[in-house]
Amino acid sequence: MTFKVRPCRDLDEFGQAVFAIGQYFGMEPTEERMERFSKNLPIERMHAASEDGVIVGGAGAFPFELTVPGAVVPTAGVTVVGTFPTHRRRGVLRAMMRAQLDDFRARGEPLALLWASEDTIYGRFGYGMASQCAEVTIPRQHAGFARPFEREGRVRLVDSTEALELFPRVWDAVRRRTPGMLGRTRNWWEHRILFEVPGSGEGAGPKRFVVLERDGRPEGYAIYRHKPKWSEGISDSELQVVEAVALDGQPTAEIWRYLLDIDWAARTTAFLLPVDHPLWWLLATPRNMRQRIGDGLWVRLVDVGAALSSRRYAADGAVVLDVLDEFCPWNTGLWRVSSRGAKRTTSAPQLRLDVSTLASTYLGGFTFSELVRGGRIEELRRGAAARADAMFASERAPWCPEIF
Ligand SMILES: CC(C)(COP(=O)(O)OP(=O)(O)OC[C@H]1O[C@@H](n2cnc3c(N)ncnc32)[C@H](O)[C@@H]1OP(=O)(O)O)[C@@H](O)C(=O)NCCC(=O)NCCS
Repeated sequence: MTFKVRPCRDLDEFGQAVFAIGQYFGMEPTEERMERFSKNLPIERMHAASEDGVIVGGAGAFPFELTVPGAVVPTAGVTVVGTFPTHRRRGVLRAMMRAQLDDFRARGEPLALLWASEDTIYGRFGYGMASQCAEVTIPRQHAGFARPFEREGRVRLVDSTEALELFPRVWDAVRRRTPGMLGRTRNWWEHRILFEVPGSGEGAGPKRFVVLERDGRPEGYAIYRHKPKWSEGISDSELQVVEAVALDGQPTAEIWRYLLDIDWAARTTAFLLPVDHPLWWLLATPRNMRQRIGDGLWVRLVDVGAALSSRRYAADGAVVLDVLDEFCPWNTGLWRVSSRGAKRTTSAPQLRLDVSTLASTYLGGFTFSELVRGGRIEELRRGAAARADAMFASERAPWCPEIF
């Protein structure tokens, strides 16, 4: 069976295509909701798959700017991918992935990225796990810092209007040097980050917004929810950190000191932290910060040459990669990568890998050496993996603080 896949033409089609996944979330594609969603996901960037004129699947792509080591790159942010339960395992997803990747290529977007609902779905389409994220729980009795701490700034509760003016200034400063972070438009802030979807929060209160200022300048912010609970007269409440972003050093320590000190919280939780978060070094007893590590961003090099030429490299030298890409064969072949970018070559290959594995190294979240040890890369020339590691290294772990 072949399905017809094409971009949506109006809000009605858009709603039906979004419903392909929305139904699994128990969501209704009301006009108001779809209008709001389409402020960030342009209608024509939502593909719909249909059979006999009836929509049975959908896949969208936000037009993002992604920070990669040393640069910011236009990137397709794949989202709301779903197939109606009536049509599962009949090739709808495959047809949509085909249409999407051809579209990204035609648009000149060298990269695509997504959050995967299951880690088994996207590897076959060339996506590779490219970052990890940490879900942490910090019990109140273990929230003390290791070193003496003195507050220098001031934390203020603000409403969403003021947050809309102040938070983006912090975000932009931090995201430009953090691989994995995305540019956010005003619409993104207004309709996603600061907006409260009715019924969200799973029993916790509304989002609260605070800004940290020093000398009148915003240097950090946090969005959090209180989840109050009392048991036998004792608080068992949770402070849920939705997003906490601050400049390096003192501002990061200050925003977390604020969050960890809020009264009643028996524990503070956060679920999308980078694996190298400074909390490990700020806390006096980090072992008691319970942590679960999971996969974060999945990256797809849509155009291997353009993607590898877009980022910067931490070391001089060159490496020759033999790349296999079954789903997008235009990428298959030998690539020489150096600090001047990537070019096709006829030189002898030094590392052999498929395109999803190359994607895992792209943001600096995983090394070639660990992927050799994990059986994903064949090292054809001794020392090539270590050389590639030095070139692809990133000063900090990739971090994407939100699921889109
Ligand atoms: C996951 C989902 C999109 C798959 O769609 P589908 O139309 O059934 O997938 P297809 O029939 O095109 O399958 C394509 C390939 O992926 C595989 N596949 C599909 N879903 C899979 C899953 N959940 N786990 C592992 N493999 C999966 C198929 O076996 C097939 O493999 P093959 O091409 O090697 O034979 C669909 O089941 C769905 O909508 N699930 C609920 C929502 C969801 O999880 N969406 C993804 C959000 S990130």
